[in-house]
Amino acid sequence: MESLDQLLIQASARIDEADDLEILASLESELVGKKSFIASTRRGLGRLPSEERPIVGAQVHEVQTRLQQLIDDRRAVLQREAEDRLLEQDRVDVTIEGYEPPVGMHHLLTQTVDEVVDIFTSLGYRVASGPEVELGWYNFDALNTPPTHPSRLESDTLYVEYGDSSDEMLLRTHTSPMQARYMEKHDPPVYVVVPGRTFRADALDATHSPVFFQIEGLAVDEDITFGDLKGTLAHFAREFFGSERKIRLLPHFFPFTEPSAEMHVSCFACDGSGCRVCSGSGWIELMGCGMVDPNVLEAVGYDPQRLSGFAFGMGAERIAMVRHGVNHIKHFYENDLRVLRQFS
Ligand code: PHE
Repeated sequence: MESLDQLLIQASARIDEADDLEILASLESELVGKKSFIASTRRGLGRLPSEERPIVGAQVHEVQTRLQQLIDDRRAVLQREAEDRLLEQDRVDVTIEGYEPPVGMHHLLTQTVDEVVDIFTSLGYRVASGPEVELGWYNFDALNTPPTHPSRLESDTLYVEYGDSSDEMLLRTHTSPMQARYMEKHDPPVYVVVPGRTFRADALDATHSPVFFQIEGLAVDEDITFGDLKGTLAHFAREFFGSERKIRLLPHFFPFTEPSAEMHVSCFACDGSGCRVCSGSGWIELMGCGMVDPNVLEAVGYDPQRLSGFAFGMGAERIAMVRHGVNHIKHFYENDLRVLRQFS
């Protein structure tokens, strides 16, 4: 009887100290399980004198009931604590500040090309593209450029060897070959712009790159005049650089246009009075242009008696550099995000 009383006192302290469910479970089997002191005492009751049996029996029952109760209470406490811990881990704190997902953007060159193309498609122009590896015929001959022309030298043009084909193959030096390709495939009238990559045997410096981007324009119809060319380019300059811009056309030479001109836009930074952007002249050179040479129309089977047209070609990096004050062409190809992000 004394052992039972002591058991109750010691056990209740241990039950109180059990701080997880596993410890409590092994304590339970130790205290009230089949091999416990309680169980063996209960089994030994039969060996007691009959007058002690009910007294000890009642006491065993009492101690077992109390222990079981203490264990069950403790288990309930531990289970609730475990649930609380889970709930705490699962808690969503809706007050924590979110993060802004990074948003991508188009490369400055893509933005520039898209903008130029948009200006011309708004006027009804189509958009076309052509091969970067080109035949000498389209890059030069069909464009009224004779075999002896200096631009055909290997110091200017990058040639491509292709099997034992006798056709002259090269990386196109401008987007103008698409003038010929487009007219070959389409009946007049033609109003088309052609953005695309072009290649020249140039070393990289602030304004030159062996790979660059051009945007070609071609309009061929009945009664197209030099005035149409001038009005179209003036419209482009105002759309791209601002409504105050004026243009001027200076005589120039290209084999595939006659007359040819160099188009300048009045400086948007100083409005023509002269500044660093325009190197003091008040004007910025933007592109080459001219009236399509009748020989080019003839080369593609168009009738130069009935049709006339104008063409122009601009460097996409160049116009982006002028407009955004980019001071080296390499910034378009290095893809330094610190640079590109300035044009988002
Ligand atoms: N293809 C010329 C160049 O690359 C530009 C140009 C295009 C000039 C169309 C006249 C007409 O310099």
